[in-house]
Amino acid sequence: MGKFKRNFYCGDLRPEHEGKEVCLTGWVQTRRDLGGLIFVDLRDRSGIVQVVFNPDQKEAFETADKIRSEYVIAVKGKVCMRPKENVNSKISTGYIEVIGKELEILSIAKTPPFAIEDNVKVDESVRLKYRYLDLRRPKMQHNMIFRSKVNKAIRDFLDENGFIEIETPILTKSTPEGARDYLVPSRLNPGEFYALPQSPQLFKQILMVAGMERYYQIARCFRDEDLRADRQPEFTQLDMEMSFVDVEDVIAINEKLIKYVVEKVTGRQVEIPFPRMTYKEAMEKYGSDKPDTRFGMEMVDISDLVENVDFKVFSQAVKGGGCVKGLTIKKGGEIFSRRQIDELGEKASEFGAKGLAWINITSEGIKSPIAKFFDEATLKQIIDKLQGETGDLLVFVADTNSELVMTSLGSLRLYLGKTLNLIDKNKLNFLWVTEFPLLEYSEEEKRFVAKHHPFTSPMDEDIPLLDENPAQVRSKAYDIILNGTELGGGSIRIHDAALQEKMFKVLGFSEERARRNFGFLLQAFEYGTPPHGGIAYGLDRMIMLLLGLDSIRDCIAFPKTQNASCLMTEAPSEVDIKQLNELHIQVKK
Ligand code: AMO
Ligand code: AMP
Repeated sequence: MGKFKRNFYCGDLRPEHEGKEVCLTGWVQTRRDLGGLIFVDLRDRSGIVQVVFNPDQKEAFETADKIRSEYVIAVKGKVCMRPKENVNSKISTGYIEVIGKELEILSIAKTPPFAIEDNVKVDESVRLKYRYLDLRRPKMQHNMIFRSKVNKAIRDFLDENGFIEIETPILTKSTPEGARDYLVPSRLNPGEFYALPQSPQLFKQILMVAGMERYYQIARCFRDEDLRADRQPEFTQLDMEMSFVDVEDVIAINEKLIKYVVEKVTGRQVEIPFPRMTYKEAMEKYGSDKPDTRFGMEMVDISDLVENVDFKVFSQAVKGGGCVKGLTIKKGGEIFSRRQIDELGEKASEFGAKGLAWINITSEGIKSPIAKFFDEATLKQIIDKLQGETGDLLVFVADTNSELVMTSLGSLRLYLGKTLNLIDKNKLNFLWVTEFPLLEYSEEEKRFVAKHHPFTSPMDEDIPLLDENPAQVRSKAYDIILNGTELGGGSIRIHDAALQEKMFKVLGFSEERARRNFGFLLQAFEYGTPPHGGIAYGLDRMIMLLLGLDSIRDCIAFPKTQNASCLMTEAPSEVDIKQLNELHIQVKK
């Protein structure tokens, strides 16, 4: 530390401090020479204040002449009101300035590769390489501070509600989350590897066996998967587990948690309970297990109306076990030209549909390439079912594969929501999606795999179906959705040994394999297991959505790029041959 001790933050100074002798420290935002005076905008975490040096203070003035952007300085001076003509009402310190009397340069700086300000146009790769400069920008500082406040609010609430924070290992055994593991070779055990946790799933269940009752952790998780705007190879979960609970208990405490955190950190009101939707309803109406309910345009099924029509695309889809669904684009006929309707069809194909049939309800009557296949009564029924009115455009997808109809039309719905500006960005639409299927069939592995993980409990009434029709079994799994993004998910777990055994059987796990992968958990379960369940939130995602960011990277201090590298540290990188030898590893060239 230099000669002076800071006693005020730059951004805190106001007219009420007039006359105060202050000592400030920070970075030089700008230095301007104006008519014999030197103006310095000084920045610290709290904001920016203007400091003025005049030639009367000879020593300080001469030093001020030498400083450049991003130098670190300490200034002693006096707070004065700015002359009226110099007031800048746009910034919170704009009514005052500090008349500099003493100045010390604490550190000089190279010219930064980009200006330290919010709306600077610079490639993200440059920002990531010089992350320490990027993080100096007010927006990024705000994001980090916000994130810290979210963490604190979470801890306050959970502590108050009887949860204890417990850390679980980072060097561990592979967990069954389904992504690829990051592996760490063991020096002391040649040929053996740790896996970095994809989540603390097995440990938190063991903590329930251990009698901890209510656990949470702000936990780092690692998944070697393909990255997107809302995915990172290492990310943070708010992870929770509770004993002696059912779905309703988990949902209730989590609604209170979210309400508390969001109201605390954003000041916005959150209504609870949140709406709920079953997985089936979500797929049928929105074609997605994470519906964006900020706008309507729900899908409507017309299968029953078109089973016997002459239009083979429709009738054969229904007869072949599939379905036909449609969307009503309000005033779509007025918005889209004929060519643009064709382009919509191309979009639908990109989303997997085999075609897009349409009916345009114009003031001069129906225009549609498929209307000729329907009698008048059927056409009217279809239009009525979609609540079509003059000016509207109705679009349809048919397929023998119902899932394809739902997902392609669901994607088209989202595309239309965005391009037609139907989404109110100010909304925070929380939604529970419940009753997920327990299993899904993997064509690749030719067997059923767990949709969530192998410890998720089936719904009681569906247990008998495990033998007859595994695909129909619903689970006690739930996801929490915010504005069409999966914020978190969890389930009530199986705590009954016989049911767990059955589950492994349905999954095609031999007893030997189950023991090998999860032996320690199964063994723990033999010593008295409370019914339990939990949830995990993607904390980075939560913060991204609450801040309205486009990328998860903007709320992570040191994120990775699309190909999982860190541009600042240049990780991953090659290592010394000596290190490899110690780890008993030889790299294939
Ligand atoms: P799940 O795998 O659904 O559940 O993960 C929970 C939440 O973590 C977030 N998330 C991610 N965020 C950023 N980058 C990623 N690569 C990434 N992957 C997941 C998502 C997701 O909803 N152990 C279970 C939870 C439980 O059953 O209690 C689990 O990990 O927001
Ligand atoms: P076609 O008889 O093949 O020329 O198709 C007539 C109309 O039906 C065109 O507008 C196609 O885009 C549409 N169409 C074709 N296949 C499908 C499908 N699977 N679902 C919905 N519309 C379709």
